[in-house]
Amino acid sequence: MIEDAMGEALLGVLMEPEIDRKLRLAEEVCKVRNFKVVDGDSPSIPPKPGRPKSWKVLATEEIGERPKLTQLEGRRALLHSLANIELSAIELPILAILEFPGKDASYYRDMLFIAEEEVRHARSLIHRLEKLGEEFGTRSVHLGLWHTARAYPDLCDRLAVVPRILEAKGLDVSHKIRRQLIGAGDQESARILEGIYYDEIKHVALGTKWFRRVCRERDLSPASHFLSISRKFQPSRPVAIDREGRRRAGFTETELQFVKGKHQK
Ligand SMILES: [Fe+2]
Repeated sequence: MIEDAMGEALLGVLMEPEIDRKLRLAEEVCKVRNFKVVDGDSPSIPPKPGRPKSWKVLATEEIGERPKLTQLEGRRALLHSLANIELSAIELPILAILEFPGKDASYYRDMLFIAEEEVRHARSLIHRLEKLGEEFGTRSVHLGLWHTARAYPDLCDRLAVVPRILEAKGLDVSHKIRRQLIGAGDQESARILEGIYYDEIKHVALGTKWFRRVCRERDLSPASHFLSISRKFQPSRPVAIDREGRRRAGFTETELQFVKGKHQK
């Protein structure tokens, strides 16, 4: 387990409701790289991460459709939704540190690296949203990523689900969204999403690295274990995937074929 003081600081990030303070606390703790790894159990994790009292937190399926990106309202809704996703993306690697004791320091370091980049993503999206005249938290949000992650309490499953299924889906939609933003004349938002895209490839690649390592430690076949977990997330119809980005993040051709959908030729 990561040493107690760090563990408490990380728990503090999860529980902090105020966004500015949460981002600042996360930034500070992610910079620490010379922590000790000690024996110990996972601390008790809150059922939900902290959010401002004034926020309206809904179930994922209750969040309404976004207007088209050609409209300013649609671009604001997109940035708000992405900022919300990045906020959860900071918390997931922190959760992956606190929930899984017994790993070596390089695992914790990789998770802190991801969380640190996610703070940057959240900040840049919140800042861009403000430039477009809207404050973060004025729309309904969801905790879908958090709840999905927590539904997989085993490290190997979590590493398949969070970086290799959920984050990888973000790669699939990035090009199309950026093209639409550029079409709508919003080069600046597209530029921010492009930076995020390249960072996310690194995060998915780290997920691949740790997923395979944990599979090896357990004598599991990474290929068949990934396919069995991702079956639940497999689309019923073929979907467009970002083959190039996913390949760079360590997906094999068999995995690519599988995540693309059942009727893929
Ligand atoms: Fe991110």
